[in-house]
Amino acid sequence: MRKPKILIVGSLGMDFTFSTEVFPKEGETIIGKSFKTAPGGKGANQAVQVARLGADTTMVGKLGRDANGEELLKTIDEAGIHHDRILFDEEVPTQVADIILEEAEGKDTKNRILIIQGANMTIRREEIAFLKEEVKNYDMVMLQLEIPMEINEQVAAYAYEAGVPVMLNSAPSAPLSDELLSHLAYISPNEHEAKDITGVEIRYNGDEVNMDDVRKACEVLREKGVRNALITLGGSGAAILNDDGFFHAPCVKGLDVKDPTAAGDSFVAAFCTAVCLGMDMNDTLTFANHVAALTVCGFGAMPSLPKLERVEEFMKERGCTLPDLSALK
Ligand SMILES: Nc1ncnc2c1ncn2[C@@H]1O[C@H](COP(=O)(O)OP(=O)(O)O)[C@@H](O)[C@H]1O
Ligand SMILES: [Mg+2]
Repeated sequence: MRKPKILIVGSLGMDFTFSTEVFPKEGETIIGKSFKTAPGGKGANQAVQVARLGADTTMVGKLGRDANGEELLKTIDEAGIHHDRILFDEEVPTQVADIILEEAEGKDTKNRILIIQGANMTIRREEIAFLKEEVKNYDMVMLQLEIPMEINEQVAAYAYEAGVPVMLNSAPSAPLSDELLSHLAYISPNEHEAKDITGVEIRYNGDEVNMDDVRKACEVLREKGVRNALITLGGSGAAILNDDGFFHAPCVKGLDVKDPTAAGDSFVAAFCTAVCLGMDMNDTLTFANHVAALTVCGFGAMPSLPKLERVEEFMKERGCTLPDLSALK
């Protein structure tokens, strides 16, 4: 079996994280504690995860002609992602996020985040028209909601026409047209995003998720025309409803959880990779849960996205039977 070919159309951005004992007040200038830059954006995170698992990965997205754009290009190049179709805006800058963390002794960390979406939002229909022809070369297309909705709609329509399955990770929450939904093979909201789309509240009793709620939300997603309704449930794992039935896989237990950032990105990337390998649904969910488990055990988004060898090692440590991953090597 050849390597799965996965196309990600989505966002790229640079995160600037400032940490401080206390947030500055209006008009005030203060001296903070530390500063870090990190590449991100849901599209780029998902592409990096797919590539680290060994799939043949292509990213389409838009950068500005600036230092942040260069850094992001370098990041996806180093991950082995094909980037010859990356677009550039000559005027508008690359997306940036200004993240201020208030880290005071003995208190929970708080954040204030300001995002300027920049070039992510200047993608035009004609710039992705080439996908009408080229989309058929992929086994799967992955989308998120950090680029213009009309671009997601266009790409999903091209893929649907070409018979290529589309996964929409519907984050952050936004209203979705019936037409877009009808073109999706897979959708993967988390519990909050699922409520925004379906109106079904997924209740928890302590750590225990109410499976009837999850199933109901999945049913509503299926009624909207999505064949495979997947909902990620944080520390309660993930569930999916499709033609073969309802599957739930609890998350990996007993972890030293450090930072849940990018858990959803990591999960959906692993899920799509497994589906392309033809794994059955139980194996797919188990594989994706283990990949995401490693992500929540590391700090930061991209640095914590695991490579295939680490996932294999971890699944063995945990006593799982390894699925056939030879096509990823
Ligand atoms: N506390 C946790 N322990 C183990 N796995 C987790 C934990 N939180 C998240 N995960 C894994 O990450 C996946 C995605 O997390 P979730 O919080 O649902 O996504 P999002 O980041 O989009 O909110 C889960 O389905 C699970 O596999
Ligand atoms: Mg969550």
